[in-house]
Amino acid sequence: MAFIDWNDTYSVGVTHIDNQHKQLVRIINELHDAMGAGKGKEVMGKVLFELIQYVNTHFKTEEEYMVKFGYSDYDSHRYEHEKLTDEVKRFHEDFKSGNAIVTIQIMNFLRNWLLDHILVKDKKFGKFLNEKGLN
Ligand SMILES: [Fe+2]
Ligand SMILES: [Fe+2]
Repeated sequence: MAFIDWNDTYSVGVTHIDNQHKQLVRIINELHDAMGAGKGKEVMGKVLFELIQYVNTHFKTEEEYMVKFGYSDYDSHRYEHEKLTDEVKRFHEDFKSGNAIVTIQIMNFLRNWLLDHILVKDKKFGKFLNEKGLN
């Protein structure tokens, strides 16, 4: 069993966004596996960096849709994105300088953050996009 098992309850009803969420799940699972396998700093750093890059790509995609369609909850949604981005970046800096390691607590934090965010904020946004004709 994977650390995060994707299932349809996580779908926000927009294929482009769902595919990106699945990709995020894939990278978080990869990070979890690398941690479990006791991979060294170099491998862990690479996966962490991949996660940061992809989180950025994904948040940009959602925020571009929000601007394009005039989404009224833009500010509070973007605020959650920014908070996570800051936290992950800070963690990556600590990791690189040797002051942090990837632990199960970090993994649980990432999983809970992603799933909670998808189930509340992204689902609400997905519904809005559906109303705009996007599926
Ligand atoms: Fe999302
Ligand atoms: Fe989001």
